[in-house]
Amino acid sequence: MKTYLVTGGAGFIGSNFVIYMLGKYSDIKIVNFDKLTYAGNLENLKAIENNKNHIFVQGDICDKEVVENLFKVYDIDYVVNFAAESHVDRSIKEPEIFAKTNVLGTVNLLNVAKNAWETETGFKAGVKYLQVSTDEVYGSLGETGYFVEETPLDSHSPYSSSKAGADLMVKAYADTFKMPVNITRCSNNYGPFQFPEKLIPLLINNCLNHKDLPVYGDGLNIRDWLYVEDHCKAIDMVINNGRLGEVYNVGGHNERTNMQIVKTVIEYLHESVDKEISETLIKYVEDRKGHDKRYGIDPVKIKEELGWYPETTFEVGIKKTIQWNLDNKDWMNNVTSGQYQKYYDKMYEGK
Ligand code: NAD
Ligand code: DAU
Repeated sequence: MKTYLVTGGAGFIGSNFVIYMLGKYSDIKIVNFDKLTYAGNLENLKAIENNKNHIFVQGDICDKEVVENLFKVYDIDYVVNFAAESHVDRSIKEPEIFAKTNVLGTVNLLNVAKNAWETETGFKAGVKYLQVSTDEVYGSLGETGYFVEETPLDSHSPYSSSKAGADLMVKAYADTFKMPVNITRCSNNYGPFQFPEKLIPLLINNCLNHKDLPVYGDGLNIRDWLYVEDHCKAIDMVINNGRLGEVYNVGGHNERTNMQIVKTVIEYLHESVDKEISETLIKYVEDRKGHDKRYGIDPVKIKEELGWYPETTFEVGIKKTIQWNLDNKDWMNNVTSGQYQKYYDKMYEGK
């Protein structure tokens, strides 16, 4: 039975990953380690609250003693590091916490894992550290071309620079200590449990409340959208079959301007929920500082080496995501009002 240490597993992608993995495999154990910042929410894990192969531990990836203790208590085979401060706008306001969590937290995880796994002749067999990174480390594209794994790192925001710094530390552990690692760099995810500070859930929530839909700049910046489950599937494949030391880009050639996303959300909600939801809600606002123009991933390496492909088209995924938000209005109300703390207290009463 393989044991995974999944960090940040109460956040958006991490919770989807933990649910995906426990649904797919009955012979793995997941130690889910999360600080439960504003972005982490145990309500995301409700579907697996009675699963005996899931152990939740609240804590900070920067805390050496606590992370060392996890390695002492559990025989960890894989580390999958999702834990991060993940929102670009916040990083522009408060860069320090991004450097701390994303860079120093990653170094702490690497170091503790290395100490636990290193033997006199190398590393224990079958162990791996996987860093969940982002396409933003490559910077911004012009009208043509795609990010490939060899594209030089050229991050711009404090968020993406902290993720690039973390990637370089992972590389340092691979190059210096021959530590078994992989890095995945994925494009923009969307799907269930995404915190409504990010574009798609923010649009859905604001539409339902008849609030303005803030569009930064001219609305023509381009992102490459991937349904979150396809990202989870890619990470599973890289853990199990990725060549050691390699970087894998993950993306499904789903480029859209922000305005196309805004109009798609409005159209769906206008037709299926409320005729008052319309383009009159769109409000152009000041542009994000240093706003990257375009991201676009070339996923040829992960496709050819590991057989990964995106299963959910954007047309299907966006409908599923909007419908999930409509079916889970309590979740949205809870995360926007901090009510999930009550759920946590209830779930862990007396433990
Ligand atoms: P998120 O903000 O929804 O979740 C982050 C999780 O990390 C939260 O549960 C939070 O409580 C936890 N966390 C934060 N600081 C911590 C700390 N010091 N110790 C332990 N836990 C901590 O983020 P997300 O969108 O799910 O992204 C997850 C990872 O994937 C991040 O590393 C991000 O850079 C990367 N990524 C995200 C996207 C995307 O589109 N969202 C795309 C590519 C890569
Ligand atoms: O590319 C992967 C990255 O995608 C991840 O590494 C990040 O963790 C994740 O947050 C995301 O970053 P973005 O900055 O691309 O996502 P966000 O949802 O914040 O913004 C998407 C686009 O929409 C971006 O061009 C900014 C714009 N935007 C965003 C918000 C929140 C708006 O126009 N209005 C908004 O209110």
